[in-house]
Amino acid sequence: MTETASLIAEATRTALDEARAAATLADLREVRVRALGRKAPMSRVRAQMGSLSEDERREIGRLLNEARGMIESALAAREGELAAREQEETLARDRIDVSAPGRRRDVGHPHPLTLMADRIVDIFIGMGFRVAEGPEVETDWYNFQALNIPPDHPARSMQDTMHVEGTDLLMRTHTSPVQVRAMQAQDPPIYVVVPGRVYRRDPFDATHSPVFQQIEGLAVDKGLSFADLKGTLAAFAREMFGPRQRVRFRPSYFQFTEPSAEVDVLCMNCEGAGCSACGRSGWIEIMGAGSVHPNVLKAVGWDPEVWSGFAFGLGVERVAMRALGVRDIRWFYENDQRFLAGFHA
Ligand code: PHE
Repeated sequence: MTETASLIAEATRTALDEARAAATLADLREVRVRALGRKAPMSRVRAQMGSLSEDERREIGRLLNEARGMIESALAAREGELAAREQEETLARDRIDVSAPGRRRDVGHPHPLTLMADRIVDIFIGMGFRVAEGPEVETDWYNFQALNIPPDHPARSMQDTMHVEGTDLLMRTHTSPVQVRAMQAQDPPIYVVVPGRVYRRDPFDATHSPVFQQIEGLAVDKGLSFADLKGTLAAFAREMFGPRQRVRFRPSYFQFTEPSAEVDVLCMNCEGAGCSACGRSGWIEIMGAGSVHPNVLKAVGWDPEVWSGFAFGLGVERVAMRALGVRDIRWFYENDQRFLAGFHA
C-alpha cells in the first residue's frame, strides 16, 4: 500500500519534471504517453486494483486521480508555453511586412512599332481599305520589273538591294511589290493597305536601319485621281495627328507612280512653327506617293484607260520616331526593356 503510494508519487514527480523539461510539442506528446499511456506505471497500478481491499482500492483510486489531475494540468501548462513559443518563432521566421511596397508584375505588351502600325492600318480600314500581305523574300519581277523598274535601270541603286545568296531572289526593298500581288489576286476595284518589313543595304545608325517597316496603300477604281490621293492622306493625317493637321505634297519621282510626290505633315512637335525636331522647316516627311503608273496596271492586265488610282508608302519608324519623340531608330530594335516599357497600348 505505502509501496504503491510511493510508486505513484515517484511516477508523478517524474512526469511533472519531464513535462516541464519538454522542449517541443512533439517531446511533450511523448511525455504524455510515458506518464499516462497504457504501459505507464500508474496504468499498471490501476490494472492491479482488483486484488486490493475495498479501502485500499478507494485510497489508491484517489491517489491515482489526484496524480492524473496534476500531470494533466502540468502537460496543459507546458503545452500552452510551447505552442506560444513555436508560434512566435514561426512569426519571426515568416514575417510579412505589410507596409513594404508591392512588387510590380511586368505584363507583356505589343512593341511600340506594332502599336503604331496597327493605329495607322486601323485608320485606313476605317476608310474602307482592307489589309493585304506579301512575302519578304521576293523576285526581281515583283520588286522591280512589274513596278516599271527595268533591269539595269539606274534608279535601282536608290534602293540598295540585299540578295539571297545562290538564288535569283532578293529581300524586298519596299512593300510596293504587294501592290502587284494584291492586284493579281483579284479584279478591280481594289483598296488595300500592306504593313510589312523591308530590307535595304543601309548602315545601322541613328536614322537608318537595314530592316524597317512600311505601310503601303493602293487604291484602283474608276475615275480615281490625284485629288483623291490628297483627300485620303489629309483625312489620314487629321485622324492620326489631330484635327489641325495638314499635308504638303512636294514633287518627286518614283517609277511606279506618275505624277509622284513626297508627302509631309506638320511637325508634331512645333505644329509648323519650326523647331530642332523638323530642321526648322515645320514639316516632317512621312511617305512617298503618287498616281499609279499605267505600266503597273498593264503588268497585271488591268486596262489603264478604264482603271486609275493612287499608291503611297509610309515609313513606320519615321512616323513613330516623330510621334513618340524617339531620337534613335536603333532603340526600336535593341529591345531594352527600359525603353519598351514606356510604350504601353
Ligand atoms: N516604295 C516607295 C519607297 O519605298 C514608296 C512609295 C510607295 C512611293 C507607293 C509611291 C507609291 O520609297
